[in-house]
Amino acid sequence: MASFSIHTYGCQMNVRDSDVLARRLRMAGYTDAPDEESADVVLVNSCSVREKAEEKALGKLGMLCASRRNGRPGLVVGLTGCMANRLAEGVFAVVPGLSFSAGPRAGAGIPALVARALAGERGMWLPGPPPQAHDGPPATSTSTTTTGRNIPEPATANQAPANQAPAAAPAPHPSSFVTILYGCNQRCSYCIVPDVRGREESRDPREILEEVRAEAALGVRDVCLLGQSVMRYGRGGGFRWPDDIPSPGGYTEPLPRLLELVAREVPQVLRLRFTSGHPLGVTPELVRAMREIPAVCPHLHLPMQSGSDRILREMRRGYDSARYLEAVRLLREGVPDIAITTDIIVGYPGETEEDFERTREVMERAGFDNAFVFKYSPRPGTPSAALEDDVSDAEKRRRDQVLLADQDARGQRANDRWVGRTVEVLAEGPSLRNASRWSGRTGQNKIVVFEPPPRVASGDLLRVRIEAAHPQTLFGVVV
Ligand code: 5AD
Ligand code: SF4
Repeated sequence: MASFSIHTYGCQMNVRDSDVLARRLRMAGYTDAPDEESADVVLVNSCSVREKAEEKALGKLGMLCASRRNGRPGLVVGLTGCMANRLAEGVFAVVPGLSFSAGPRAGAGIPALVARALAGERGMWLPGPPPQAHDGPPATSTSTTTTGRNIPEPATANQAPANQAPAAAPAPHPSSFVTILYGCNQRCSYCIVPDVRGREESRDPREILEEVRAEAALGVRDVCLLGQSVMRYGRGGGFRWPDDIPSPGGYTEPLPRLLELVAREVPQVLRLRFTSGHPLGVTPELVRAMREIPAVCPHLHLPMQSGSDRILREMRRGYDSARYLEAVRLLREGVPDIAITTDIIVGYPGETEEDFERTREVMERAGFDNAFVFKYSPRPGTPSAALEDDVSDAEKRRRDQVLLADQDARGQRANDRWVGRTVEVLAEGPSLRNASRWSGRTGQNKIVVFEPPPRVASGDLLRVRIEAAHPQTLFGVVV
């Protein structure tokens, strides 16, 4: 049977989609290729959020198609994910020779496309199905894995060098994602996501629960519930929380209810997170859920995008810097030791030096543990694409570097506070930099590097005393 390899760009939602797609392909009888170079089928799961991500994916697809002339004549090359929907049939003009292209929610149809492509067909286009269709992982995924054991036992995999690609199956990782909300209705001025991932739609809590159970059965101990704007979970028209699922904690909002339900019903999941947040979704009830439900981690990714009220208004974010900082205050007061991380865009059309300085100030006041900074990239068809992209690339780069330097100092200060404390670390595996040491994460999602105790396994919860801190990493000893 043919072997496959999936190359993933973009966000956690794409990582999850690739994971689910791999399971579908295995169930259809395809095998994991040891590496991309020897695969019969290479799929590129793409991202459209910035132009650079699209250029990389197009470059990759072009190279793959060209390799048919260099000893891989029958290679199947497929495009999946956000770019597939953005370019639609137009992609076949950009990448001649592409076997097929399939949108983000077309997962269930992909094994059939692969089969046709292996028979020689090219140029097939499958848009994502309408949002009603269920596109979680295949229903029988747990039974395949428990009987077929296509995920290696942790002990075996842990002996592999850290930098070696997993052989026939994904390395056992104690963390996984589960999508709870598809699409996005927010329409921020710069964002392509509503165009490529469609309208917001919340999944049924029972369906989510089954998926989390299946993950737990695979050994997953840390589950992150995903939505482009996750706090909108259950708030769209047409959604109703099932009457027969009570809330012992007295929660009335859908996201706190869901967190409570999952934590209660799947105790094997030691840690629950959700991402990405929005300041208007930080309600007193959500803060209470984060504090009172032990499995819910003291960590929130809360994209701010800018600290300038004028730019935030232009971006149509729906809040100003004061409202953002109010959400941060609620979280810090309500959730002890919470870590807050963010996304920032630099060089939005018309962003002045003054706007930028406001962003620096507000970032400092928010006291972020980490920040991802992106250079503005106009996306065709979005409202801001009509504006002149008037901040030069050199200036965007400068602003990016200034924010990263600020954040490095802030991250160092945030991490210094952990030195001397003992924290719970979920062990992941050998550290990427130095395979003789291991790394894991705290509930705050901070990476901790430590000397592995004997017989440590991925998914173990260890107590680690922190002895040193870098801006992005803690170092400690197991106690
Ligand atoms: N240009 C630059 N960054 C963008 N993001 C989203 N759209 C764009 C764009 N057009 C960033 C936002 C978002 C993150 C996932 O990507 O900061 O939070
Ligand atoms: Fe990229 Fe957005 Fe698609 Fe994620 S949803 S892959 S960030 S375009």
